[in-house]
Parts: sequence; structure tokens; C-alpha cells
Amino acid sequence: MSYLDNLFALEGKVAVLTGGGGVLASEIGSGLSRAGVKVVFLDIKEEAATQAADKIVQQGGIARGFKTNVLDMEALKATRQQIIDEFGQIDILLNAAGGNMPGANITPDKTVFDLDIADLDKVTDLNFKGTVLPSIVFGELMAKQKSGSIINISSMAAMQSITMVLGYSAAKAAVSNFTSWMAMELAMKYEGSVRVNAIAPGFFVTHQNRAVLLKPDGSLTERSHKVIANTPMGRFGEPDELIGAVLFLSGASASFVTGVVLPIDGGFSSFSGV
Ligand SMILES: NC(=O)c1ccc[n+]([C@@H]2O[C@H](COP(=O)([O-])OP(=O)(O)OC[C@H]3O[C@@H](n4cnc5c(N)ncnc54)[C@H](O)[C@@H]3O)[C@@H](O)[C@H]2O)c1
Repeated sequence: MSYLDNLFALEGKVAVLTGGGGVLASEIGSGLSRAGVKVVFLDIKEEAATQAADKIVQQGGIARGFKTNVLDMEALKATRQQIIDEFGQIDILLNAAGGNMPGANITPDKTVFDLDIADLDKVTDLNFKGTVLPSIVFGELMAKQKSGSIINISSMAAMQSITMVLGYSAAKAAVSNFTSWMAMELAMKYEGSVRVNAIAPGFFVTHQNRAVLLKPDGSLTERSHKVIANTPMGRFGEPDELIGAVLFLSGASASFVTGVVLPIDGGFSSFSGV
């Protein structure tokens, strides 16, 4: 084994990625596969999960896709059993199911007093509970195994207020908070064997935000111009730029790292705007 293979020690590990049919998780999954990891994509859209897995298999990797709802505890437990039957272990969990929902936004023509509470519930459920439930179901197995790495996905919206996205911001702030709480809990009760961290992507153009960031002709919206102006690197991120951080947090390379939220944002979160 090379020095780098030993440092990361990822070969043969099994990773479960929720929201696996999405843009970011499918790209991260293919990076994990190239590092020797067996990849399981879970998505509420079965076809999306299967397609992401098929792509990896065509490239010579080992992957599977399952339909699962991250808000359904019983479905998650049944899926956990299917994964164990097939792969024998689960070493890495990436909680990537999530995203904003237009109904929970306060658009410029509205004020906070128009907030649709049902939509607020939906977006906080998906992003917060949709991280907590899989962490409990798969984390329980990791605690029994006495090894594992859980990686959550937070957001720039958790760190500073960003116009419009009330519900999504609150839910992602809760994800960051849960990351440090769960990291503490598992480190103290399971001898540091299960680590919990998060990445906080800056702005990446994906299904859930394309209409907000790009006009139909592909040019930048007014909001995008503001994003780029506040990103010292002056551009959006590319999905494959998340892979290195996830590999680092997944493996032995991060054996003493738990409870961190790592921004991958071209400098957005550290920039004063001046
Ligand atoms: N794109 C960005 O700029 C950005 C920035 C910061 C954080 N994020 C976060 O990254 C994560 C991935 O986002 P993306 O941009 O790839 O979005 P995406 O819409 O491409 O992927 C999200 C996936 O989650 C799945 N999903 C939705 N509800 C589900 C449920 N109940 N159970 C299981 N799967 C479900 C969807 O079917 C979809 O495939 C999300 O948590 C998002 O909030 C994205």
C-alpha cells in the first residue's frame, strides 16, 4: 500500500449517501468509488439512486441504489438491513438529502409575516430531521461496530443571514449544531470510535437552485451577481470540488477530527464583503 492509501485507509469501506441521486451526492459518490469505497445511494427517487449507482458500476466500481425516504424511520431501518445483508458493514454516512423549497422562502414581494408555516415545517423536516434520522439508524450500527464516520451537509445560510431563505437557513443551522452535539455524544460514549463532521458548501449550481442562480439562457441572475461579488474566488463551486474534503473526513486521515463544519466556498464565509 502506498503512503497515501495508508493515510486515508478507504479501500474496501462501505459508504451510504442519502439524497444519492442528487447532483452533489452522486459526484461525491463517484469520488469515493475511485478511492476504493463501495457506494450505496439512497434516494426518495428510486430511478435517480439506481442511475447514480449504474454510472459507477459502468466505470468498474461497486455501487447500489435503493429507494428510501430519510423521514421514514422504518424504511431507513429496512434499508440498513438490506445494506448489511449485501455489504456486511457501513463505515461512512453522507447525509446529503436536503435542499431549499420555494414555499419556505420570503420572496421580495412578501414579508416574514406571510410565512407559510406548513412549508416551513417541510423544509426544516427534510434538512434537519432528514439528517438526524439516518444518523440515528446508521450511527447505531457504527457505534456497535466501534467505527464509522458521519458527514452532514450544512450551508452558507447557516452562518450568516441570506435574504429569502428563512426555513432552509434555520434547518441548516440546526444541522451544524447537531453535528457538534452528535460528535460529542458519540465520542464520549463510544471511545472516539465514531466521528461526526459536516461540510458547508458555498454556491454550486444544482437541480434545487438552478432557477435561482441562472436565467433560462444560462446567464447569471441578479442574486447570482451578488453571490459572485461576495465570493473572493469570483465563481460558483464545481461539484467535484467537494470530493477531497469528504475523502479526508471519511477516512483515517481525520482520525482526531470530530465536530467540525468545513466550509468549501471559495472564501464566501470568511469574507467581510469589503
Ligand atoms: N447546491 C448547493 O449550492 C448547496 C449548497 C449548500 C448545501 N447544499 C446541500 O447539499 C445537499 C445536496 O444538494 P444538491 O444541491 O445536490 O441537491 P439535489 O436536489 O441535486 O439533491 C437532493 C437529493 O435529495 C433527494 N431527496 C429529497 N427528499 C428526500 C427524502 N425525503 N429522502 C431521500 N432523498 C430525498 C432528492 O430526490 C435529490 O435527489 C442538500 O442537503 C443541500 O441542501 C447544496
